[in-house]
Amino acid sequence: LPILLLNGPNLNTLGMRQPEVYGTDTLADVVELAERAAAELGFGVRALQTNHEGEMIDAIHEAVGKISGIVINPAGWTHTSVALADALVIPDVPIMEVHISNVHKREKFRQHSYVSPIASGVVAGYGIRGYEFAVRRLAELVS
Ligand code: DQA
Repeated sequence: LPILLLNGPNLNTLGMRQPEVYGTDTLADVVELAERAAAELGFGVRALQTNHEGEMIDAIHEAVGKISGIVINPAGWTHTSVALADALVIPDVPIMEVHISNVHKREKFRQHSYVSPIASGVVAGYGIRGYEFAVRRLAELVS
């Protein structure tokens, strides 16, 4: 079953958004990197980026029984959304949390995550390579 790759709000602007923090690679680069890493390990990728919380929650419900795991950069919702964290456990598959930046060296409000307590692993501060690590680890967990 494929890996569900979820990217939260504002990540559609990757590449132009605060490049000093998030780098110059785009969301298309992220998806390509994840797809390549997954393919090497025999997995497909279903990718969704959305700026609408309900749309992401609907997509998670939609995916029940159809995915082997979730790689998610919840972006701003990391720090705010009980509803997203509640939805993420519904498919009952491993979850890997990715942050491009090192959230731990940034503002205090970025240091709390609603997703981390339900994640099998968290990658932060490795730029977009974090997605590759997360995909590899997820594949290892579910194989
Ligand atoms: C982020 C970190 C979050 O704090 C922020 O709201 C984002 C991106 C990251 O990838 O570093 O939008 O998740």
